[in-house]
Amino acid sequence: MESLIVLINTIQRACTVVGDHGGDSNALSSLWEALPSVAVVGGQSSGKSSVLESIVGRDFLPRGSGIVTRRPLVLQLHKTENGTEDNAEFLHLTNKKFTNFSLVRKEIEDETDRITGKNKQISSIPIHLSIFSPNVVNLTLIDLPGLTKVAVEGQPETIVEDIESMVRSYVEKPNCLILAISPANQDIATSDAMKLAKEVDPIGDRTFGVLTKLDLMDKGTNALDVINGRSYKLKYPWVGIVNRSQADINKNVDMMVARRKEREYFETSPDYGHLATRMGSEYLAKLLSKLLESVIRSRIPSILSLINNNIEELERELDQLGRPIAIDAGAQLYTILGMCRAFEKIFKEHLDGGRPGGAR
Ligand code: GDP
Ligand code: NA
Ligand code: MG
Repeated sequence: MESLIVLINTIQRACTVVGDHGGDSNALSSLWEALPSVAVVGGQSSGKSSVLESIVGRDFLPRGSGIVTRRPLVLQLHKTENGTEDNAEFLHLTNKKFTNFSLVRKEIEDETDRITGKNKQISSIPIHLSIFSPNVVNLTLIDLPGLTKVAVEGQPETIVEDIESMVRSYVEKPNCLILAISPANQDIATSDAMKLAKEVDPIGDRTFGVLTKLDLMDKGTNALDVINGRSYKLKYPWVGIVNRSQADINKNVDMMVARRKEREYFETSPDYGHLATRMGSEYLAKLLSKLLESVIRSRIPSILSLINNNIEELERELDQLGRPIAIDAGAQLYTILGMCRAFEKIFKEHLDGGRPGGAR
């Protein structure tokens, strides 16, 4: 049976494709809303891009100072067979396969500017990128603009609040897992990520605490209070990370080398050595994938009932239009109805397959 994450990816892409072409996409937007996802949040320079690149094992995100991420990036990771070449594909450029990841970075920048203009505005219209690689786990992550406290020159004054409300619109969804990134070299009490996460998830049962820059802490201090959950209690254990430093990036240190160095850092650390198997970006990726899969599984019944409602509603609408219909609106509804029926069938199979004795 196909991975549930792969299935959700397919539905998300289908929703976007159909939704983009106008017409009645209410049925699909409510479905999109209900699908579990993982959103990455944190203050500027907290290490969000570095964590994402580390999870993917590739260099592909725009970087620079100021607000670099200005549109949500929906990043779908697809694990492929060993020996296959890494490649990437944008939803707005289907049929174009990227194997050069600097061109992926360039396209994210260009596509951001196409919607926002060059003057550093933000837009909530997501960019969809799929990456296929033997070095990833199946996972969908949404990269969001970094939370910031001040607008810089050339940006509208409202940008600080605009970013916060955009990020909030993602993380307040009860189906959203929050990957909350905080740098270890700043007081955790001032973390933008934890401040927002605490507001929308006060119990802490869908927030993943990620602590970056462990290597940059003052000598003689460590982050064990945070990592052991004494500062912020969360349902899942905190994960510590050591990303590439700016000097590493300037020297073009390879991502696979960086992953190895990170592993060595934890294995040999006097403070974190005993936690080494539960630290680092590779561990984080596996944990997230497993968790997302189980969250999706637990939501199948509610997703199914939503799909059933959609089907009924679409059928009613089609009846009102009168069948048979040749006009575009009808054709669109038929397409969506067909998709919903296909999703229903696959989800039902998963539901049956997931229950002992359920599979026939
Ligand atoms: P973002 O703005 O949240 O996306 O942050 P970036 O991932 O772009 O990181 C900002 C800067 O911090 C870059 O120069 C990174 O090299 C550096 N950085 C991020 N994480 C770490 C880390 O764990 N250790 C060290 N030494 N530097 C890091
Ligand atoms: Na922060
Ligand atoms: Mg960034």
